Amino acid sequence: MKAFKKASVAAFAAGLILGCAMLMGGCGVNGDKRIVRIAHSQSETHPEHLGLLKFKEYVEENLGDKFEVQIYPNELLGGQTKVIELAQTGAIDFVLVGTPNLENFADVYEVFSMPYLFTSEEAYHSVMNDVDYMQQVYRSTDEAGFQVLTWYNAGTRSFYSKKPVHTPEDLKGLKMRVQQSPASVNMCNAFGAAASPMSFGEVYTAIQQGVIDGAENNELALTNNKHGEVAKYYAYNKHQMVPDVLVGNLKFLDGLSEEEFEIFQEAALISTEEELAEWEKQIEEAKETAANDMGVEFIDVDVQLFKDKVADVQADMLAENESIRDLYDHIQQVNEEYQDGSEETKKTQEGK
Ligand code: GCU
Repeated sequence: MKAFKKASVAAFAAGLILGCAMLMGGCGVNGDKRIVRIAHSQSETHPEHLGLLKFKEYVEENLGDKFEVQIYPNELLGGQTKVIELAQTGAIDFVLVGTPNLENFADVYEVFSMPYLFTSEEAYHSVMNDVDYMQQVYRSTDEAGFQVLTWYNAGTRSFYSKKPVHTPEDLKGLKMRVQQSPASVNMCNAFGAAASPMSFGEVYTAIQQGVIDGAENNELALTNNKHGEVAKYYAYNKHQMVPDVLVGNLKFLDGLSEEEFEIFQEAALISTEEELAEWEKQIEEAKETAANDMGVEFIDVDVQLFKDKVADVQADMLAENESIRDLYDHIQQVNEEYQDGSEETKKTQEGK
């Protein structure tokens, strides 16, 4: 009932806002200002929302006479597969989504769904912070009518569930929610679990009602999204680092003057800086809150057993999708650069 109510409210709100947008000249413009809408899935305390507030602040500081930025959190305008379509048509100007949602539009993004793609957090950050290199990836959705401006850290994903998971064998028969992409489904099934794709906003109720046994995500999902209330075991198998990205409607971006575009691009990079800093703070707090206040048990597992279970997945994906080859090779090179690095790097690799 609660879930139904939430969905109806979201649908109503989305309909109202977008209905107005389509009338153009109505809700799309406030006086002389063009309203710029951004939709995302997280709460108003999440690092991504805080990052987007900086985006808003910077755009309005520099172009406030022309643009007003409005941020819609909590899947208010719909789940990620839905809002990406709205960004494609221009009903929303920007959306913040996980890369699995882009796989249907440009298959290079499948690379991020590979289990154990990055071998350290340092390598992950180094690849994603390489703005020049990432441009070619970000432009891969031009034909689909949208473009990525920047990335946000969404941490390291592991399985969490109602029952404890210590080895890959424990995943057998468990129905686990994954993001809505074929590569995410394959990844989860390769571990021996039964993948159940659904939108992020549905996960809490689905676990609570026993529709699924658990999901896989970073630790903030336990606290910020409250999944730790219904799933009490988090197994540190660390299978993925999947970035989130800020996607802009291409027509909108192309319609900006060079100077305006630069401001939006700078705003995007500033929002990333803010998000990354907030992430570091909040992820530590999330672990403590989940363990101490919510009674979630964090289980240190033998990560190698999980890696062995999906050992063939990277090769299979490379054989099936030529588009991921260049980015994959580039990531392997960066992985190697950080291989012999610090104690911290080693710890990450060993899954500690
Ligand atoms: C993370 C990520 C979101 C994504 C979610 C999910 O929270 O930041 O962008 O939607 O995982 O699993 O769907």
